[in-house]
Amino acid sequence: MKSVLLAGGAGFIGSHLADRLLKRSDVERLVVVDNLWTGLRENLAHIRDARFTFVRSDVESFQSPCMFDEVYHLASPASPPWYMQEPERTISANLLGAFRLRDLLLPGGRFCFTSTSEVYGDPLVSPQPESYRGSVDCTGPRSSYDESKRCTEAFLFESQRMRGLDVRVVRLFNVYGPRTREDDGRAVSNFIMQALNGRPVTIYGDGMQSRSWGYVDDIVEGLERFFWRDPIEHRRPLNVGNDREIPVIDVARHICRLVPGARITHLDPVPQDPTNRRPDLTVANRVLPGWTCHIPYERGVALTLKWFRSQLTSDYTAMSA
Ligand SMILES: NC(=O)c1ccc[n+]([C@@H]2O[C@H](COP(=O)([O-])OP(=O)(O)OC[C@H]3O[C@@H](n4cnc5c(N)ncnc54)[C@H](O)[C@@H]3O)[C@@H](O)[C@H]2O)c1
Repeated sequence: MKSVLLAGGAGFIGSHLADRLLKRSDVERLVVVDNLWTGLRENLAHIRDARFTFVRSDVESFQSPCMFDEVYHLASPASPPWYMQEPERTISANLLGAFRLRDLLLPGGRFCFTSTSEVYGDPLVSPQPESYRGSVDCTGPRSSYDESKRCTEAFLFESQRMRGLDVRVVRLFNVYGPRTREDDGRAVSNFIMQALNGRPVTIYGDGMQSRSWGYVDDIVEGLERFFWRDPIEHRRPLNVGNDREIPVIDVARHICRLVPGARITHLDPVPQDPTNRRPDLTVANRVLPGWTCHIPYERGVALTLKWFRSQLTSDYTAMSA
């Protein structure tokens, strides 16, 4: 039976991963540690399971009376407005968090980490294979995030090389879906909240910058298979994302079609906003045969919109009760 520690489990992706971890019959204990910086306790409020414990703490200073068989390190903001506002805290969460979590791992335990497509920076190669070394500015506005992910990858793969640590690292590409914060600030949730609140849907620049939008259920299915379900020999980073690349403006237009009266407005481009992002899934296709993003953005966006609508209705009901 496994004792599992999930750091960042009150966040968007982490809370979906917690649900899947609790479906396992070989998990005897799941501890979620989260400081609720960008996460929300509500994301875990539905869990009724005696094996589950929530601890509010910074991961870097998390004290635990016991060690763990598996550690999942998701503790880091993923949204640019949030990590740009607190860059030192972002670096600390990723890197010092990884140091602390490695100390809490039992000998022979497994360390899983969610890195990011941002390690490729503003890529000069498309699609981006794992072997692409990236075009990253270590003094740029996104550096606290990009570089702390890169350095945490270096720390983990060196731990693998020097100590034989069992490491699983995924590089995620633009995940979206239910349980994103209303004020998260990334494209899909931003557009939806603006449209629902009757505000203009804001596009930075011409909106032709493209992203590969992965619906959370598809992405977490890939994580489950890579992190614990499939017998996997692969010991290098793995791209996990949707390889259908869609311009930001297309997503905004789609949301405007779904929300009557919504309209788009253009703002100045954001400095160093990557022009394109698309995973090369050659390795993923070999390591996770049959795994793919099944949910097209048109359907994923509609599902996310439905969830946000239900949240607004329940907020309204709670306020008027
Ligand atoms: N969502 C994406 O598109 C995406 C893309 C690439 C990588 N990722 C990575 O996946 C992980 C989860 O992303 P998400 O979208 O769920 O983000 P999120 O912001 O919703 O979740 C992150 C969680 O970590 C917690 N946290 C942050 N710093 C902490 C600290 N020092 N100690 C304890 N808890 C801390 C937050 O409170 C939050 O609950 C992150 O590591 C992120 O970098 C996400």
